[in-house]
Amino acid sequence: MSWQDTVRRVTPYVAGEQPRDKSVIKLNTNECPYPPAPGVRKLAEELRDRYADLRLYPDMDATALVKVLADYYGVGEDQVFVGVGSDDVLAMCFLTFFTNGKPILFPDITYSFYDVWADLFGIAYENPALLEDFSIRTEDYLPALTGKENGGIILANPNAPTGLELDRSEIERIVSGNPDSVVIIDEAYVDFGGVSALPLLKKHDNLLVVQTFSKSRAMAGERIGFAIGCPEIISFLKDVKFSFNSYTMNLPSILLGTEAVRDRDYFLATTARIIATRERFKKELTGLGFVFPDSHTNFVFASHPGHDARALFEALRERKIFVRYFSKGRLKDYLRITIGTDDQMDAVTAALKEILA
Ligand SMILES: Cc1ncc(COP(=O)(O)O)c(C=O)c1O
Repeated sequence: MSWQDTVRRVTPYVAGEQPRDKSVIKLNTNECPYPPAPGVRKLAEELRDRYADLRLYPDMDATALVKVLADYYGVGEDQVFVGVGSDDVLAMCFLTFFTNGKPILFPDITYSFYDVWADLFGIAYENPALLEDFSIRTEDYLPALTGKENGGIILANPNAPTGLELDRSEIERIVSGNPDSVVIIDEAYVDFGGVSALPLLKKHDNLLVVQTFSKSRAMAGERIGFAIGCPEIISFLKDVKFSFNSYTMNLPSILLGTEAVRDRDYFLATTARIIATRERFKKELTGLGFVFPDSHTNFVFASHPGHDARALFEALRERKIFVRYFSKGRLKDYLRITIGTDDQMDAVTAALKEILA
């Protein structure tokens, strides 16, 4: 047997393209079109004076960042776990909580990293199909109704790439209906008008809420994500993380992330601005004949009954407008368009008008 026969073979996650050409209108990875909070810039400049600190390992507990997050969300510091983007946090969650050998559950259409981690870690999974309108059927996640036990549940809420949100009361039905499983709610997009499951933590110790700085806090480049749960669940997560890599968060990320959380007003103003642009863009899309699930995120998942989505994707690309297209199954008729600035969305609308004509 050669060494090639024993290699762990995986099919990696394919992230949206990051073009070098800065003139591209980049609406393909749900980044924020505005810069991070002004305090982040000021601190980034001051970091020059701290360059000598880079010879030291960073604070492995990322104490400053954990503290501001705990204050912001009104939880204890022992309820917060931070990582290198929510991808890192979620991967640690899979490794820590999805271990009982029974299949974990997540919808057939959702963030396409979940099945990659499950495959990587050898976790079995089942994918209840979303309904025709892309909504989640709560009953599919209730063992009392399905008659099947599971190894855990992960739901993106709002879901990606559909943008649809499941009510908090339905999330609570799932969490309380699965007392023997950890239920992870991935709230990457919750700050764009969604409703967080965080208040449910007071009643349920099997719930873990994961969020990111990559979208609403405009810091995808710094790679910061976090999870909030009961102290026990967080301590299990930390044990696994510290068995894997103690120093995940680098010094600039800890400091700059802390500054981003401090500026609540900027955060609220930026997300409000994106929501306003999204609502305006939805009207434009409807006027052009597109249909889409009602987005509670910073993207719209849109289909045109009279036009092929791949052709639209390519025609936009020729005009240097990058959106995301997924060619598989029910997704193949849709484009996922990130909400950018008003000017960027006007350019998209103008380009679509031209293409449709
Ligand atoms: C649903 C969902 N979860 C998690 C992530 C990962 O975000 P990050 O690792 O940048 O925090 C994304 C990114 O697109 C996402 O769409």
